Amino acid sequence: MKMFLDTANLDEIREGASWGLFDGVTTNPSLIAKEGRDFIATIHEIAELIDGPVSAETVATDAPTMIREGRLLAKVHRNVVVKVPLTIEGIKTCKALADDGIRVNVTLCFQPAQAIYAAKAGAAYISPFVGRLDDVSEDGIDLIAKIVQIYQNYPALETEVLSASIRHPMHVVQSALAGAHVCTAPLKVYKQLFSHPLTDKGNVAFLKDWETVPDRDIIGQVERWLAKRS
Ligand code: E4P
Repeated sequence: MKMFLDTANLDEIREGASWGLFDGVTTNPSLIAKEGRDFIATIHEIAELIDGPVSAETVATDAPTMIREGRLLAKVHRNVVVKVPLTIEGIKTCKALADDGIRVNVTLCFQPAQAIYAAKAGAAYISPFVGRLDDVSEDGIDLIAKIVQIYQNYPALETEVLSASIRHPMHVVQSALAGAHVCTAPLKVYKQLFSHPLTDKGNVAFLKDWETVPDRDIIGQVERWLAKRS
């Protein structure tokens, strides 16, 4: 499963990029607004930090203007994927942009029927919102599993299931189990994936025991050992 960062915060993206694990970034108008910076400059900087798809969302409500926005957004950087909402106008926009060869992420998906439309319109990604469904007592991961199944029924479809609105590590694990191609989450959630008290306890014990070893300089030991052999 590919892992995208769900943020427009450049510090978080820089920190995430240093791990060398992330495959792309998703933003939305709320995440952009939260940063209080210029939209286009932010998208360009993100796209320079992570060499993978970077979703930038249109904000018009009619297809002709959305198509114009999308075509322009795609010119900002080769990594830009245009994000459109799952409305009739959004789906018309998706079809037009996909026909131009522009990658589109169709967002705000809450039921499998909507995902069928996104695939028919040539979307590169469909973004079902797991956490927001869980928030209203529906099963977000069940939606991921259903869309994965529907797309698998038609192997020619190239639309990838991008599990979004991820709130905790189990959403990441369950998305992978359900067969999502991608999940997108804030850096805070990805940090939680490292955590296990037994990992911390075990590491403390290993390092404490290592203190009793007379020569603890691994680099020096290996360099001397290699020099003797050459
Ligand atoms: C990603 O594409 C979405 O914009 C994002 O995951 C929404 O997450 P939220 O429900 O936590 O706002």
